Amino acid sequence: MVQDEDRSAIIHELANAFAQRTDIDELIPYVAQRLRQVLPARGVSLLLLDEARNELEFAYNSEDNTEAGQRLAGMRMPADHGVAGAVLRNRAPELIINAQHDERHYSDIDRQTGISTGPMLAVPLLAGERRFGVIEAVRPSGEPPFSDEDMAMLVQLGPHIAIALENAGRFGAMKASADKLRAEVGALRRQLARHDLFSEIIANSPAMLEMFNLMEAAAAASISVLIEGETGAGKELVARAIHRTSDRAGGPFMALNCAAIPDGLMESELFGHRRGAFTSALEDKPGLLRVASGGVLFLDEIGDMPMAMQPKLLRALEEQEVTAVGDTRTHKIDVRVLSATNRDLEAAIEENKFRKDLYYRLAAFPIRVPPLRDRREDIPALALLFLERAAARYRKRIDRLTPEALDMLTNAEWPGNVRQLQNEIDRAVVIARNGDAIGPHHLSREPAIAGIRREAARAGAPANGSVAMPAPIATKQQSLNDRLAACARNIIAEALLQHKNNVSRTAQSLGISRITLQKKMKEYSLRTPPGSPRNSIT
Ligand SMILES: Nc1ncnc2c1ncn2[C@@H]1O[C@H](COP(=O)(O)OP(=O)(O)OP(=O)(O)O)[C@@H](O)[C@H]1O
Ligand SMILES: [Mg+2]
Repeated sequence: MVQDEDRSAIIHELANAFAQRTDIDELIPYVAQRLRQVLPARGVSLLLLDEARNELEFAYNSEDNTEAGQRLAGMRMPADHGVAGAVLRNRAPELIINAQHDERHYSDIDRQTGISTGPMLAVPLLAGERRFGVIEAVRPSGEPPFSDEDMAMLVQLGPHIAIALENAGRFGAMKASADKLRAEVGALRRQLARHDLFSEIIANSPAMLEMFNLMEAAAAASISVLIEGETGAGKELVARAIHRTSDRAGGPFMALNCAAIPDGLMESELFGHRRGAFTSALEDKPGLLRVASGGVLFLDEIGDMPMAMQPKLLRALEEQEVTAVGDTRTHKIDVRVLSATNRDLEAAIEENKFRKDLYYRLAAFPIRVPPLRDRREDIPALALLFLERAAARYRKRIDRLTPEALDMLTNAEWPGNVRQLQNEIDRAVVIARNGDAIGPHHLSREPAIAGIRREAARAGAPANGSVAMPAPIATKQQSLNDRLAACARNIIAEALLQHKNNVSRTAQSLGISRITLQKKMKEYSLRTPPGSPRNSIT
């Protein structure tokens, strides 16, 4: 049938395969299939020795009859039973003309498969002293027996298979320990990251600690996360923290504010474009989905994603494939999407302003960032953190809040959430003098904070985080001059803040000269932060 050269070529090929492949689960089926091309058989089986239980297990078979194959798979027999047992015990191969006439034949197998075994070849798999199992080729009763050449071929392959099994054992153990190591490193990294998170994201309240648990779960899985929460609540902070503590931490974090991109440019922004695809497309541009490949794309204000883009985005995410505007080629991507919204997307779905299918794709794992008023326990720590940062930024020696100020802050409504608190502290630090403790008179008057709340409620819109004009709180001990000075100081500080510390524009808005303004700033120890725009004084 098969020429000798062919056989030696195949043995050579199989020997090479053993040397090159390490994955035994791929190797064995490949060898069995290849063998059966030169050695017609009903099936080839690999029986592995389980030394602990002293059993032989049908670890692999390539039975013609798949049902029989399935019944055979995983079957076990005592290691000293059957022809295989004898072959292993004697460490010698056997060629059997008809198994039905061999008393050693383990007839349970025929009962299991429903097929009567005839001719057989069985070769022990040995590597040095070690016995790994037996490889068998079988034909049904009535078929011609295997030839001596068939047996010679299987015998030549035996040691290769045995060594591959031995290597696989070593490799498997190595891989297991590498996997274990990787898992341990991952867990440690997450633990460290959690520590890191705690130091950057203030979370003392039960509401935030609960969210931390969700964030950890989200970081560990590569799942789409939708971060919901009011304006300024910390949604972006949460998104960045999830990225930093995830397996993709080494990959990019690309953020796209959907509200800031004109509808017409959204497709090119996400998918990229070819040069010349439209008039302003002077260069090829890859698009954020490709740039974020291997990492995370953060879609901020996802509720503003144009309706027309939503199906395209959904398809790109499901297929992990993009086509640039003006291009025909597709590019594979590997992107995890985190998105954020302060709108009620389910309501948007009702109003047909957001597609349900995209929503379900993006909101596989929703996380809600609680508003600041629902976690007042966090306010003192947040206020101190922001105080420390502002003092460093404005180079002021201010490190305390009076209990009264803290009380005011803790009880305010904060429609602009954490960002508003941050702005409030910034403002107070600008107003306060070196060495001061931040007191109520440095803060927007409590009625002012309350005023924002009422205004916001009336307008039905969230406050943008800016705070109302401060008014100094006069105390009985202060002279008129002191009170006027405090008032002027507050007005100047507020104007500076409003004009981003630009002295010329601030002076203009107050109707005084730059020189006068600079003198007043010196007098009131008002300084602009280093690195702020031209015209700042230092
Ligand atoms: N728990 C927190 N600990 C420390 N800083 C915080 C915390 N939450 C928010 N911040 C800070 O508050 C500011 C607002 O947070 P962020 O930009 O993440 O909010 P957002 O929900 O994305 O706001 P918007 O709705 O306006 O986009 C940021 O400067 C952020 O660093
Ligand atoms: Mg944001």
